[in-house]
Amino acid sequence: MPDAPKTIESLEVEERVFAPPPEFAARATADADLVRRAAEDPLGYWADEAERLDWMKPWQTLLDDSNPPFYKWFVGGELNVSVNCLDRHLDQRGERVALYWEGEPGDRQAITYRDLHERVCRLANGLRSLGVKRGDRVAIYLGMVPELPAAMLACARIGAAHTVIFGGFSPDSLSDRIQDCSCRAVITADEGWRNGKTIALKENVDKALTSCPSVEAVVCVRRTGGEVGWVDGRDHWYHELVAGQPPECEPEAMDAEDLLYVLYTSGTTGKPKGIVHTTGGYLTAVAATHRHVFDIRDDDIFWCAADCGWVTGHSYIVYGPLANGCTGVLYEGAPGFPGPDRWWEIVERYGVTILYTAPTAIRTFMKWGKEHPRLHDLSTLRLLGSVGEPINPEAWIWYQETIGGGRCPIVDTWWQTETGCIMISPLPGVTATKPGSATHALPGVGADIVDELGESVPFGSGGYLVLTEPWPGMLRTLYGDDERFVETYWSRFPGLYLAGDGARRDEDGYYWLMGRIDDVMNVSGHRLSTIEIESALVDHEAVVEAAVVGRSDPTTGQAIAAFVTLQASIEGDDALIAELRQHVATRIGGIARPASIVLTDDLPKTRSGKIMRRLLRDISDDRQMGDVTTLANAEVVSEIAQMAAAARAAGTGE
Ligand code: WTA
Repeated sequence: MPDAPKTIESLEVEERVFAPPPEFAARATADADLVRRAAEDPLGYWADEAERLDWMKPWQTLLDDSNPPFYKWFVGGELNVSVNCLDRHLDQRGERVALYWEGEPGDRQAITYRDLHERVCRLANGLRSLGVKRGDRVAIYLGMVPELPAAMLACARIGAAHTVIFGGFSPDSLSDRIQDCSCRAVITADEGWRNGKTIALKENVDKALTSCPSVEAVVCVRRTGGEVGWVDGRDHWYHELVAGQPPECEPEAMDAEDLLYVLYTSGTTGKPKGIVHTTGGYLTAVAATHRHVFDIRDDDIFWCAADCGWVTGHSYIVYGPLANGCTGVLYEGAPGFPGPDRWWEIVERYGVTILYTAPTAIRTFMKWGKEHPRLHDLSTLRLLGSVGEPINPEAWIWYQETIGGGRCPIVDTWWQTETGCIMISPLPGVTATKPGSATHALPGVGADIVDELGESVPFGSGGYLVLTEPWPGMLRTLYGDDERFVETYWSRFPGLYLAGDGARRDEDGYYWLMGRIDDVMNVSGHRLSTIEIESALVDHEAVVEAAVVGRSDPTTGQAIAAFVTLQASIEGDDALIAELRQHVATRIGGIARPASIVLTDDLPKTRSGKIMRRLLRDISDDRQMGDVTTLANAEVVSEIAQMAAAARAAGTGE
């Protein structure tokens, strides 16, 4: 890990505070009393939440902490995740819609709990007939079709672990993951839809499988009807496989600590990390956080607009909401297809009450303009959520005003693939929010900010974000690599989980996330967070999106290099660049004035929408660029590199 901050200096002050609306607070599922009880007895809180699930056999030990960091939760307990997400709702709410699904071309399905149960059972039986059994791993490589959550739940039903691989990944990434997990089967589709074009899913699987000897069977959903290659004996059509199967399927009784899934995420090395989540603790954690953070009520229509290929989709499209018997929305396609108001049309059509998305999406909608959401009735919305990166106050306010009509609380939720569930977030009926702050650790969660020595820093300063207590949703290890698990998360500060994020707490104890530790710059001995400077840039009316990195500078150690996307209607020139540099200096202080600003129509992003700052650092330092295959828009890179070289040569630094 590169040099990290002694303390992260924070110069920007955000002073707006929004109290929970009184009528919201009066009805909220999580209240101050819950917070108090959890603070007094965190383990008791988790035990109460676990009691809400259906256990086939009760646990004997709530938490086994005898061999840290290999914690075990609900030891001795047995349950089945698909039973908790489906069967137990059938009596009371079998006819209730579990998922409203909307395909990109405009086809729709309203899938009730009873329907979904039947689909899952048929597929589970089908998988068993192909020889998939308890303890196996199954790769799922699909677009956002109803068969995706069904496949996850079918695996859970028969005790096979799934690894969902985002449909945008290449054959190489696919085969790396399938091999690392030694999957026995792959579930895919002929093609997926994205922006009116097709993605060749089955073809990618066929390429990947040339180097995956463990795979015995491929199940293929017919989605677009496109041509596919076929390997007799290995490949099976999904619809044919399930057609002959009984609509009931005996679930496996799983140990609370049995593997539920592996989800790969990139680390600091080239090899992705297989994050391991188990059964009882994970389900307890996602159900509890879904209920409390999103204030779930019986009549809610909950839309988490993430992809099931990421942890957000696992925890808050599939497992949390279905465990709570909630009605969700699943949208297959791109936000701008066929027009820039597609999302708002969906909100209106289904009467969505809670929307959960990422800052990068919000900034895209800002760029497209207010007129598109205004075309639709968004008055059913009552709560908004954000996840995935720090949300800059300007985007927060836009979200609140333009989408939330000024009436919806916003929950800015901090968590990671590793944490499994939301860790730091407002409780919408309890917490007064500050735009850009994830506020406080949730009930049952212990967080802190520490300095280089692992000492807690006082309010008003920054450092490393750590988690101080085990929690039921925590990753148990990295698949097949206990050593890397200990090294990455538990070795820097013994007894503390290192999140890898920088953060500060303000004078009121509010947490402000400041980006990954390796996104922190050191300019003339001052440690500055990239996100604060990005926020200041985006605060300027001409700017839509900004990314900031530290580039090497012989005088100041690092110099601030900014990459900025302007509003579509604005033409950039040198005068505007000078104005933007001054704007940051005015907003934060002279120390934060960018040395160079490159104007670009697009920033390099991963397929999940995160800006690739690592790449921008390479460009800024004129280094050989690292791997660009995970980029969604690799073509912008060489263009930006040329402009960055020109900006460096022009020597705008000082
Ligand atoms: C970042 C996504 C600031 C953070 C659930 C974390 C955030 C990484 C927030 C995990 C937030 C996520 N505010 N930063 N509300 N939420 N992050 O594993 O850097 O895809 O470490 O999980 O995203 O990303 P991951």
